[in-house]
Amino acid sequence: MEETILKVKDLSVKFDIGLNIKKFTAVRNVEFELKKGHVLGIVGESGSGKSQIALSILGLCDKNATVSGEVIYKNTNLLKLSDTQMNKYRWNNIAIVLQNAMATFNPYMTLRDQLIEPLVYHKGVSVQDAERKAIELLDLVKIPDVKNRILLYPHEFSGGMLQRAMIAMALICDPKILIADEITSGVDVTTQIQILKLLHDVQKHMGMSLIFISHDLGVLSKISNEVIVMYCGHIMEYTTMKNLIYNPVSPYTKGLINSIPQFDKSCDRLEFIEGETPNIDNMPAGCPFCTRCKFALPKCFTQKPNLKNVEEDHSVSCFL
Ligand SMILES: Nc1ncnc2c1ncn2[C@@H]1O[C@H](COP(=O)(O)OP(=O)(O)O)[C@@H](O)[C@H]1O
Ligand SMILES: [Mg+2]
Repeated sequence: MEETILKVKDLSVKFDIGLNIKKFTAVRNVEFELKKGHVLGIVGESGSGKSQIALSILGLCDKNATVSGEVIYKNTNLLKLSDTQMNKYRWNNIAIVLQNAMATFNPYMTLRDQLIEPLVYHKGVSVQDAERKAIELLDLVKIPDVKNRILLYPHEFSGGMLQRAMIAMALICDPKILIADEITSGVDVTTQIQILKLLHDVQKHMGMSLIFISHDLGVLSKISNEVIVMYCGHIMEYTTMKNLIYNPVSPYTKGLINSIPQFDKSCDRLEFIEGETPNIDNMPAGCPFCTRCKFALPKCFTQKPNLKNVEEDHSVSCFL
């Protein structure tokens, strides 16, 4: 039996919006388990709630959010912790890397100072030891000429290099879990492949678990063991990457797979899912995908399907 390192149960994120305070559910009853040393991918269109899942795990959602459910790490429900208590888990146990590397760094501090700060100030490590560790990690993420580059400021790095430095920064306190949110979006394909390979190597090297978030199933399939398909805040399908590619069940997942060129070599015309994602104000009462689903039954429009097991390690929320 592989050890579960993070267990998420019935996680919902609701936002208060507008002046006459309406509730908008960005994440609804999400559940999953992250296994030690595994990579769990989360895929979904923009706005499907991927980032909110990541942020809620670390207690970083915006102030107008209400987060409910459980996020269990080492027998502790992280959602019950105060911000101060939560700070002990951020960086140390669970670290997050976001898409916009530039925004993560302080423009007025050298890379060295930013990397050693959490070690020196939060963990009481000596400056020399912290610096050694920083150099080791920057080497690991393949920053060339580290000894000189570490004294540079963020704007002196290229985008791809900064992205890699950010991964190094996230690893500085030896987290057990790394959450990477769209870190390969907005970089060119070559850099994308380098970052994926790097993450894969680092994750194996450190025996870490990884939650890898991307809107691109093609990218995700290169790295993930398990995968969650999100649509409008709902999990549509949750299974192993292999099952998802070879035996997708949900009509939404099937559509998603058919729209990736390399997965279906026999087809000369790229399929796409017709229709548009429902508007916040116009969410169907039933399955969020019902208005675009070719196979929708009458009850799909009125009832929400729950996530159900269809075989071992394979759950789907669909009445079909
Ligand atoms: N502070 C907020 N207030 C209201 N709605 C928000 C807030 N932050 C995010 N949302 C909404 O939550 C939904 C999910 O967002 P997000 O998790 O960022 O999607 P994804 O990462 O999949 O693109 C989106 O519809 C977004 O507009
Ligand atoms: Mg996002």
